[in-house]
Amino acid sequence: MPSINHTTINSHPGRNGDSYWIAFDNQRKCIGNHQDIFKGKFNGNGPLRGQFAAVKVPRGEKGTARWCDTQIAINRKVYDAAKSFHKFLGLTSPRFHFTDSWKVLMDETCFFTDRIHHNEWVVVEEYMGKDMYPFIDNEGRAGFGNCEVLEAFVHWSYVNSGGFLIVCNLEGIYNTTFKLKTPTIHSMDSCYGFCDKGEAGISKILNEHRCNHICAEWNKPPSMNSALMSACRRRPSAPCLVNDDSILPSYSMACKNKIMFDRAPP
Ligand SMILES: Nc1ncnc2c1ncn2[C@@H]1O[C@H](COP(=O)(O)OP(=O)(O)O)[C@@H](O)[C@H]1O
Ligand SMILES: [Mg+2]
Ligand SMILES: [Zn+2]
Repeated sequence: MPSINHTTINSHPGRNGDSYWIAFDNQRKCIGNHQDIFKGKFNGNGPLRGQFAAVKVPRGEKGTARWCDTQIAINRKVYDAAKSFHKFLGLTSPRFHFTDSWKVLMDETCFFTDRIHHNEWVVVEEYMGKDMYPFIDNEGRAGFGNCEVLEAFVHWSYVNSGGFLIVCNLEGIYNTTFKLKTPTIHSMDSCYGFCDKGEAGISKILNEHRCNHICAEWNKPPSMNSALMSACRRRPSAPCLVNDDSILPSYSMACKNKIMFDRAPP
């Protein structure tokens, strides 16, 4: 019988070893710059069974295993960076985390679609609802007030990788902590997919970055204009979604430590 929605086979394991197959609507839920997002549900034995999933399909080209691997590599990289960031600051309860992501092959496709194909690879994330906010945009700018911890994470991603990469495009939801979708990485050898604009991308983000009380002491690229990286913050024009001033004093000790370029690029 012809199918009216899409299904995948069982996914590769996520960060915790859990796997799912997904059933999802034929209608796109969101249109990104490079990919279409479909809403579906997790099926299987893992803890997300029955919850909503966001299925990501590259637009204008077939999803390949290689494309999925790159998306998964970004997800795992930022997950590790977030862990080391929290550890460095001595934060026992996480202030933000990234959704897990799964690589999965399409099985049945809706009989009247030409967007998704049998045997195409797609990426699945936890679905975060329709009201996601771009806390740090594609250019590295903070769009909302009280996102200092995320702005500092952008700076951290740069110093912690020895200047090899930088993270931006931190979009998601806030409910006492930030929950974020897989972001963008720019890297010196442009190895993180079509959004990775290489060295030019890194420079652009650094130029837009304004240090705050968390990251003001951290290392900066030698060529960086110190005025651009000064501790004087430009106030975001958008409102504060986040009211989390209580966490700020806990950074003070950690911020006294300077992070130096003492690590080789990964
Ligand atoms: N995990 C998710 N849950 C819910 N909506 C999402 C999720 N990921 C992305 N979206 C929505 O889809 C849009 C495009 O996704 P995105 O990952 O930014 O793709 P692109 O890189 O093509 O811009 C986002 O701006 C957001 O509105
Ligand atoms: Mg986007
Ligand atoms: Zn900074």
